[in-house]
Amino acid sequence: MAESYSLENYVQDLRRISGNTDDEDEIIRRVGPLAQQMALEKNWLQRRHYECDTGQGFTAHLLHEEPDHTLAVFVVSWLPGRGAPPHDHGTWAVVAGVEGIENNLRYQRVDDRTRAAHAVLELKHALDAGEGDLICMKTGGIHAVRNETERVTLSFHTYGKHINFTERSQFDLETNQMKDFKVVVQ
Ligand SMILES: [Fe+2]
Repeated sequence: MAESYSLENYVQDLRRISGNTDDEDEIIRRVGPLAQQMALEKNWLQRRHYECDTGQGFTAHLLHEEPDHTLAVFVVSWLPGRGAPPHDHGTWAVVAGVEGIENNLRYQRVDDRTRAAHAVLELKHALDAGEGDLICMKTGGIHAVRNETERVTLSFHTYGKHINFTERSQFDLETNQMKDFKVVVQ
C-alpha cells in the first residue's frame, strides 16, 4: 500500500522547490498540486483547527514555519458570514480548499501608487473555491475572502513567509486607505 503524503513530506518538498528557484511562477506551479494533495488527504487535520476567533472572523492555525519564518503553512478556519478584507501577502501564496465553499474576490490596483497609504482597487474576478480548488497569488496579488455558507469552512494556506512577518496591507474599498494587516494565529 502506498504511504500517504504527510505534512513532513510536504515541508521537505517545499524546501526542495524553494531551494531550486526564486521564480514565483515556478514555485507556485510546483507547490500547487502538492498543496491540493494535502488539502484532499486531510491526515494533518485536527478538531481544534475548526476553532475561529470571533473578533476577527477567522483564525490561521500554524502547521509549519522555518526558524526564519519562511515556508509557512496554515489551515485557516472561517466563521459563517465572515471573511477577510482585501489584502496582499508580501510573499507568494498558494491556497487549497479543504472543506466548504469560500468566495474569493481578486482585485488589482488601478491607482498610480504615488500617494502614501492610498490605493484604488478594481475587482478582477470572483471565484467560489471548494475542496481541492486552488487560489494562487504572486507577491503583490490582492484578494478578499468570504464564507457565505452556514458552516465553518477550512482552507490550506502556504506562503513564502509567515504573513505576520512580511510587509503587507489591507485595503479599504470605501476610503481607499491601506494599512498594516496582522492576523490572529494559533
Ligand atoms: Fe489572503
